[in-house]
Amino acid sequence: AVLVLLLVSSLSVFAVVKIGALLPLTGGVSAFGDLVKKGIELALEERGTVLGEKIEVVYMDTRSEKTEAANGIARLIDKEGVIAVIGEVISGNSIAAGEIAEKKKVPMVSPSSTNPLVTQGKKFVSRVCFIDPLQGTALAEFAVKTLKIKKATVLTDVEQDYSVGLSNYFIERFKKYGGQVQQLQYKSGDSEFSAQLSQALAFGAEAIVVTGYYNEIALVAQQARALGFKGYILAGDGADAPELIKIGGQAVEGIYFTTHYHPDAPVTSVSKKFAEAFVKKYGVRPSTLSALGYDAYMLVVEAIERAKTTKPELIATAIRSIKNFQGASGTITIDANTGNATKDVVILTVKKQQFAFAATISAASLK
Ligand code: PHE
Repeated sequence: AVLVLLLVSSLSVFAVVKIGALLPLTGGVSAFGDLVKKGIELALEERGTVLGEKIEVVYMDTRSEKTEAANGIARLIDKEGVIAVIGEVISGNSIAAGEIAEKKKVPMVSPSSTNPLVTQGKKFVSRVCFIDPLQGTALAEFAVKTLKIKKATVLTDVEQDYSVGLSNYFIERFKKYGGQVQQLQYKSGDSEFSAQLSQALAFGAEAIVVTGYYNEIALVAQQARALGFKGYILAGDGADAPELIKIGGQAVEGIYFTTHYHPDAPVTSVSKKFAEAFVKKYGVRPSTLSALGYDAYMLVVEAIERAKTTKPELIATAIRSIKNFQGASGTITIDANTGNATKDVVILTVKKQQFAFAATISAASLK
């Protein structure tokens, strides 16, 4: 009997499919990691097996840093033996980790990294979100057509590939409409923006566009309002964490930013079910990154099921052939050549200290 027990327990240890989740659980953008993790945990509860085996998600913290992202994915693959990786969240970290995924021929699916370089030239890296040429264009279209802005100061976080790219795509389209741009720089972790803000005021900016992440966006908003700036504050999906409001308070009221999802704008039947299940489990409404984390997990598991094997190379091929996948954040088709998805852009605002749905800009309208 002891022998049988030993056999059974060693077998059940063996019969586990390991999926890595490479996330910024600590450090500068830790709010993002936590939101994605919540989405993955919910998805795991709903679909906890694949190919008849139990799924184990192995979490790896990148500390919000590129070198740790690269080290972390290597550890997931070499030490933990994961057959696929969900991650990273921010583009710079996904670019660093993606190089390793590519070398080791293990598929990586980013829930949320929008810079084109994340998947460019790669076979093993894909994503379930749109990319920044689309996002930057959408933000410029909204600024010009809806808000009638003609003069904008763009604040770029020069340490983040995401911010550098998004700034450029915004500026390109904004200038096409004859808009005037002043571009200024800052760095992740900066907390003092008065030099840039006094330049923006002198320029006569009607909008300050901050293309980085929530911490700095919140601080820019506070300091801009304290200096008497009355114009619009705009941002990209990097604003999309509840911490923006926790840190920014009243200063972020009325901000507009582009993103991927809001529970008040469900796009698929999965969007609704996901939002209900999320509220039930966590007692709060889901954020964009939880929806995207949920989708990345579900898509990876679906690809493993379709590949009918745990061989990473074949799973990568299966990921690249997924079409019309019904996710919480929308319908996902992974382009076989680029690994990218094309989805509509959602615009949110902050109203009474809550994220509120403002508009959807369809991808098709942004050509
Ligand atoms: N798009 C951001 C990046 O590439 C990450 C992000 C997506 C953050 C969605 C918040 C919400 O760095």
